Amino acid sequence: MDLFTKCTEFSRWIDSLRKKRQFFYLREFDPAASPTVTMAGRKLIMLGSNNYLGLATHPRVVEATVRAVEEYGTGACSSRVLTGTTSLHSRLEKRLASFKGTEDAVVFSAGFLAMMGTVSAVAAEGDVVLSDEFNHASIVEGCRLTSAEVKIYRHNDMTDLEEKLASCDASQGKLIVTDGVFSMRGTVADLPGVKALADKYEARVMVDDAHGTGAIGETGRGTLEHFGMEGEIDLVCGTFSKSLGTIGGFTGAPKDVVTFLKLSSRPFIFTASPPPSSMATVLACMDVMRDEPELMVHLRDKTRLMKDGLSDLGYRLEETVTPIIPVLIGDDETTFTMAGALEEEGVVVNPIVPPAVPSGASLIRVSMMASLSDNEI
Ligand SMILES: Cc1ncc(COP(=O)(O)O)c(C=O)c1O
Repeated sequence: MDLFTKCTEFSRWIDSLRKKRQFFYLREFDPAASPTVTMAGRKLIMLGSNNYLGLATHPRVVEATVRAVEEYGTGACSSRVLTGTTSLHSRLEKRLASFKGTEDAVVFSAGFLAMMGTVSAVAAEGDVVLSDEFNHASIVEGCRLTSAEVKIYRHNDMTDLEEKLASCDASQGKLIVTDGVFSMRGTVADLPGVKALADKYEARVMVDDAHGTGAIGETGRGTLEHFGMEGEIDLVCGTFSKSLGTIGGFTGAPKDVVTFLKLSSRPFIFTASPPPSSMATVLACMDVMRDEPELMVHLRDKTRLMKDGLSDLGYRLEETVTPIIPVLIGDDETTFTMAGALEEEGVVVNPIVPPAVPSGASLIRVSMMASLSDNEI
């Protein structure tokens, strides 16, 4: 059997989905993270980007990024551990630590690497990881890599989490891992519940706040700010690929844990440093968030406007406090048909079907940006 047979069969299946207009992936948008985008020569309104605060196209952020490219070139061309750390990387780590209320922080080359590289390094042989069943693939990958035991608890189910914690051996180091905001449906983790159980069973907590940062909390500092729990979570992780306008990821943690991660997490060590200009992008994004608090107000207002409009039209929405609006459809066929119809009308959305959501719970994921105009909404 030829090794590539499976690829050929898979590719045929994708072609058949394309023919049925049920394939909404790998499309080209120019630009991608803007309220108006061009796709196949047509202008469309983008309701599928994670650029929640619109910072990826903010003039101050663009200018700071261009300046950094001029000063530092286009890449650092080495691992962070060798010659790939610039003062911009270190400055950003300090800034992220204070932004997230942790003692220190470490920047990875992608959010995926931050989650995978943190779980797999801090949880070792003899430890146990307790992970929410709907956690992001990057955490799932970290669970696959670790030599620790892994227990999956039912989504946001504190009774199940407690049962699983109670079944752990007292000698095991314990790590509870949860997304802050679950990306497909925009729901928020029961962080107070998780923290209470962590205290009771002497477990550490890791939160992946990829979709919370720059999306919820009064000033956009994320899920911990939303719950008034800043400074209470051991490992606060995130990505630069949503509200922070570029690519890269981070873990905020106590100093000793950061030192340990920097010298033992393979996804940190054995990959090239993220470009210095990306560090300048994130620093500028945080400056803008500090100086323009109205952006968070716009984001909340626009989310409310969209939700009210959709509810008035009779759509069923899952209740969330995030800029991710899940419009519940049900079956995959109708979900794809609706996404296709919206595209024809000039609107880009993400149809979400199993395995990203449970069977029969397919939805249209509408994501808001502070830079969308009321007219576009
Ligand atoms: C919850 C969550 N965690 C981690 C990631 C990975 O982040 P990145 O895109 O920076 O690799 C994503 C992005 O898709 C995400 O949604």
